[in-house]
Amino acid sequence: MSRRARFLEVLGIADEWVLRRAPLLPEAVEPSAVAALAEASADDAAVIEDTASREVAQAAMAEASVEAAWAEVAPDAGSLQTDMEPAAPAQPEVAVARIPAEPVLADTDAREAVIARLEWAALEQRVRGCTDCQLCHGRTQTVFGVGDRQAEWMLVGEAPGENEDLQGEPFVGQAGKLLDNMLAAVGLARGRNVFIANVLKCRPPGNRNPEPEEVAQCEPYLRRQIALIQPKLIVVLGRFAAQSLLRTTTPIGKLRGTVHSYEGIPVVVTYHPAYLLRTLSDKARAWEDLCLAREVHARAGAKA
Ligand code: URA
Repeated sequence: MSRRARFLEVLGIADEWVLRRAPLLPEAVEPSAVAALAEASADDAAVIEDTASREVAQAAMAEASVEAAWAEVAPDAGSLQTDMEPAAPAQPEVAVARIPAEPVLADTDAREAVIARLEWAALEQRVRGCTDCQLCHGRTQTVFGVGDRQAEWMLVGEAPGENEDLQGEPFVGQAGKLLDNMLAAVGLARGRNVFIANVLKCRPPGNRNPEPEEVAQCEPYLRRQIALIQPKLIVVLGRFAAQSLLRTTTPIGKLRGTVHSYEGIPVVVTYHPAYLLRTLSDKARAWEDLCLAREVHARAGAKA
């Protein structure tokens, strides 16, 4: 009997040990379990990784205590111990190593499911670091949105422009000044019972129209913002935001004047302030839209 085998026999654990150089995917790991892990969302992967780290740490502690016992029984057996580790705790480490990162991230449903569970801080951080569409390359910074996170009014615009990209806040240019005046006209102010966001969180270069792929990638962020705020009313500013949010190609002239619904929340459509700066004659219509919004808000049993 070899010296190694004798030590194992002395400890009475010979059957519970395997060589550290065991194959990466032992037969004990069911292929179906590996496939299931491959389908897990990025969140799940984090949980699994966390669990695996814990289990690996527990394995290390177990190894350390066995090492101590080993030293008592066979003080010169250190080199033998370094070649071996308990079999069971090695499995989670194998499973994590087998999760393919790319397919999980590329899976739209999984991505949306992850975003739909984020709380404010995590959502903000995720948006800040987002590289899921080409707009990340040209931005100075993301424009997450601003205002009261318990607001009853939510305003949704199209995308940041040059000033917004530089300052990190929506509607800070000339159009923003007009928007502030429009809010004041119905007794509101930026940040007081109002949250302002855009469909896109990054500036399209040269203020071009957003591409469908960019909208598709960014939409889950707005959806989550709306779900977290649960406003009593959404006012959509401009054709693009209205058509994106309501998933329609109906022209803005036809969308105005009716109360729509997004996830059960009433939606009123009005003109984009930048358009109103160019088309003064439509300001009266925008005023009508705001009156309708105020009425809908009051009907929703709101406080102000
Ligand atoms: N236009 C928008 O739609 N959003 C902004 O934040 C600025 C201009």
